[in-house]
This record gives sequence, C-alpha cells and structure tokens, in this order.
Amino acid sequence: MKEKIQKLTEQFGEDLSKVTDLTALETLRLDYMGKKGQIAELMKELGKIPVEQKKEAGQMINTFKQDVTSRFESKKEELVRAEEERMINAAEAYDESLPTENPCGSYHPITLVQRELEDIFESMGFDVEDYNEIVDDYHCFEALNIPKFHPARDMQDTYYLSSKNQLLKSHTSAAQNAIMMKYGKALKEKDRPIRAVFPGRCFRNEAIDACHENTFFQMEGIMIDKNISISNLIYFMKTMLSEVFERDVTVRLRPGFFPFVEPGFELDIQCLICGGDGCPSCKNSGWLELCPCGMIHPNVLKYGGINTEEEPDKYTGFAFGLGLTRLAMMKYGVKDIRVFNEGDLNALSQFVSK
Ligand code: PHE
Repeated sequence: MKEKIQKLTEQFGEDLSKVTDLTALETLRLDYMGKKGQIAELMKELGKIPVEQKKEAGQMINTFKQDVTSRFESKKEELVRAEEERMINAAEAYDESLPTENPCGSYHPITLVQRELEDIFESMGFDVEDYNEIVDDYHCFEALNIPKFHPARDMQDTYYLSSKNQLLKSHTSAAQNAIMMKYGKALKEKDRPIRAVFPGRCFRNEAIDACHENTFFQMEGIMIDKNISISNLIYFMKTMLSEVFERDVTVRLRPGFFPFVEPGFELDIQCLICGGDGCPSCKNSGWLELCPCGMIHPNVLKYGGINTEEEPDKYTGFAFGLGLTRLAMMKYGVKDIRVFNEGDLNALSQFVSK
C-alpha cells in the first residue's frame, strides 16, 4: 500500500504539471477523487488488507487525499488567476476608439415607422400614449364589449399569467378604456376632444410563419367628440397614409366585425405597386388590407365613462388599429415577418430614418 501511494503521489505530481486549463484540471480531479477514481480504489483495497495494517494504511490514504486536494486547489487558483490576467490583457489590447463597420448603430424598422406615425399624428393634434404589456382580462376584453366566452376571443388567444387574471395584451385596443378614463374629464368639462394614439407590443398564441408572429406591434388611435362620424375616420386615415407612403393613396372601407366598434370596417388601400390593376403583391385584387377600424361601440363609450345612461349618444368616436409590423413590411418590402424579432443585424441595420 505504501509503495502504491508513493507511486500515485509521483504520478499525480507529473499529471498535475501537465495541466494547463481548468477543463483538464477537472478531468484530473475526477481521475483521482471521482467516484471511480484512484482514491476510491485505494479505499476498496483498504477493505481487503489485514486488520493490524489497516490503521496505518488508512492514515496514509488520508494524507494522500489531503495532499491531492490541497495541490489541486492551489493549481486551480493559479489557473483562474492566469485566466483573469489573460482577460485583462485582452481588454487592454481592445481599442474602443477604433472605427467599426457600423459605427452608429441603427433604429429598428418598427421604431422608425412608429416614430414617423407619432410625428404625423402629433401634427394633427393627437396625444401619444404609452401602455402596459401585461393587462387584465377586463381591459383587454370586457371593457371592449367582449364578454367572457364570446367567440371573438378565439381570434385573440394570448398568453395568460398564473396570477391575478393577467395576460399579455393581444391588441392595443386594451388601452382604450384607460385613455377614455384619462381624458374623459377634459372632454366633458372643457370640450377638449379626445385624440390619442397608443403604439405597443402585442402578443398572440400563433403558429409562427412568414406572415404570423407571436409578438408584433400595433398602433391604436381613437378620436372622441360630439358629432364624430365615419367621414372624420376616413379623412384621418387617408391623410396619415398619404404621409406615410409619401403619395396620395386611395382607400376603401369594407364591413368588418369587431365587438368594440359599430359599424366596423376593414380599411384597404389601393395597391401602391400596380396602382389597382392587380399584381402578385395584392394577390391580383388591386387592394391591400391595412387597418381595421370603426365607430366606437356605445357600450365601450359607456364603460369608459364617456356617455351616461341618460345621454347615451352625446359623444361619438372612431377607433383604428394599425398593424405597425404589417406597415413596416409594406413600407420596406420585408417579405418575412420573423426578420423583425430575430435580431439579425445584417437585416435590421439596413433601415435609416429620413
Ligand atoms: N384590436 C383589433 C385587432 O387587433 C383591431 C381594431 C382596432 C379594430 C380598432 C377596430 C378598431 O384585431
């Protein structure tokens, strides 16, 4: 046993001197101290030797074990220190004043479209509002005239959190109620129309492909005052879209169902590529579906504290939900929606603001 331990001690010294990194050190540790390592072997042998020699042999194994452990620890410290030094030297060698290929960074295409729209709406007197990504069932659905178990919820399956009835908002309409509460007083007391847009990230439980994402951006807009009608809606949408696409656009409304608007519409623009003659981009129809919208449902105005039971149609308003992601795809000719969330700089850094 004594001889064996002596040999192992020498062998360990030799093995240890060859170790140059932490991975190799760990392998060596397992060779000696692992479950099936050399020390475990020695302990097995200890069981077989005569009783009178056991005590001495046991002590020798223990000393060997302590020796291996302490040499192992100091080697580890040495290697960690060397690695730290190497990193410090590498950091010093890095010259951050050197120009890089893409020195300024760039804005995400959705940020660009969002800011452009915010500017346009601000110039038309709209307030730009921010809203939460986590909302409750009431704001996302019930305040929008979508009661529990309403089939319209199927189209907006989203991600539910385990606590307090919360979910990731499936559309920016979830902010409508809060905006009405915020600006309702000024509308009623000071005759200040409510004009607000609220961009935001939305989530839906979607199977992802080139046209569908589980995370996307919308920009909601509402305008509420006395005598607001569909012509106001058309005017604002047309003005905004002509600015975005930098040319006069032709729009049309088709009926569309959303429980929180009545009447509800799908707003299409005449295809900008073929001018309405029909081409692959518009699936030969001459029109592109761009933005659901409509006149705010009386229930939604009531839940938002705008109209009362006594005067249920004192104020009217329109709402629209512009797909920012969709708009960015059209504006920049991006064919695959996944590009926006993948974080690939080659794709994302091509876009510059005007
Ligand atoms: N929130 C709706 C959706 O995401 C869109 C919408 C907004 C429709 C406003 C009408 C009015 O599907």
